[in-house]
Amino acid sequence: MIKLQNVHKRLGGRAVLAGFDLDIGRGETLVLLGRSGTGKSVTLRHIVGLMQPDQGHIEVLGSDISTLKGRELMKHRRRIGYLFQDGALLNWLNLGDNVALPLRENMLCSASEIEDRVFKVLSQVELEQHADKLPSEISGGMRKRAGLARALVCNPEIVLYDEPTSGLDPISSSLINRLIDDLKSSTQITQVVVTHDMASAFEIGDRIALLHEGKVRALGTADEVRNSSDPAVSQFIHGRIEGPLAREPLPEPQPETETDEGSDPQQKENIQ
Ligand SMILES: Nc1ncnc2c1ncn2[C@@H]1O[C@H](COP(=O)(O)OP(=O)(O)OP(=O)(O)O)[C@@H](O)[C@H]1O
Ligand SMILES: [Mg+2]
Repeated sequence: MIKLQNVHKRLGGRAVLAGFDLDIGRGETLVLLGRSGTGKSVTLRHIVGLMQPDQGHIEVLGSDISTLKGRELMKHRRRIGYLFQDGALLNWLNLGDNVALPLRENMLCSASEIEDRVFKVLSQVELEQHADKLPSEISGGMRKRAGLARALVCNPEIVLYDEPTSGLDPISSSLINRLIDDLKSSTQITQVVVTHDMASAFEIGDRIALLHEGKVRALGTADEVRNSSDPAVSQFIHGRIEGPLAREPLPEPQPETETDEGSDPQQKENIQ
């Protein structure tokens, strides 16, 4: 369903993805973990076709996405719901119109079908009373939930969630986790969930992958990950400061630029 093979991507002067391999099956919910800046959002952008790899192969829904252009790429994206990390709502449209946008853009249904569909997905995230509000009139957590409603409105075959519960209160987080779980059991939907919330990760993930230094460092079921003997995995899941997972890597030094950033011995140590 989603296959990333030996994917490489350099951004901001460093190799963010460096030989990234991952195979996600139809109907699977995969949780992607990793320290901040390791490339989780970049991975999602590759899956949806917003970014192309420098090297490697990405197959999604049976297509090699590097070969898709224009209308074909748009058609491909329509089959994928994407909850952006920041919600990515348009400030000048109310929630109802924001959620309806993918349906209207794609001219997929009539006005009354759009209305029904928007009401349904807003209800799923408990926002049906707020359809007339602008993004600036609601809280950050509500914006996140509205972004999720928009990701689901076209009945996608794949849903990518970039930190769906960050900034949400525990009850709203449980609501989102339940929604992800319901989607899992009720349909053949494939889901990729980036989260820093370990309780959610273990609850919703069929498998969990840990991204480190541009590669999948560990991959397994919740139990396999919990019982992993890899010190990097246990450092991450227990949030320990000391361990093999160093700070976010710095860009490789550019020979022609003179900067004293690289002279900090603490930073140098953390590059390795
Ligand atoms: N468009 C871009 N141009 C340059 N650098 C980028 C771009 N997008 C991402 N990066 C860099 O790639 C690295 C990975 O970014 P990414 O957003 O994927 O991190 P992340 O794992 O999602 O982190 P977080 O948990 O903080 O959201 C970061 O160093 C970031 O600065
Ligand atoms: Mg991110």
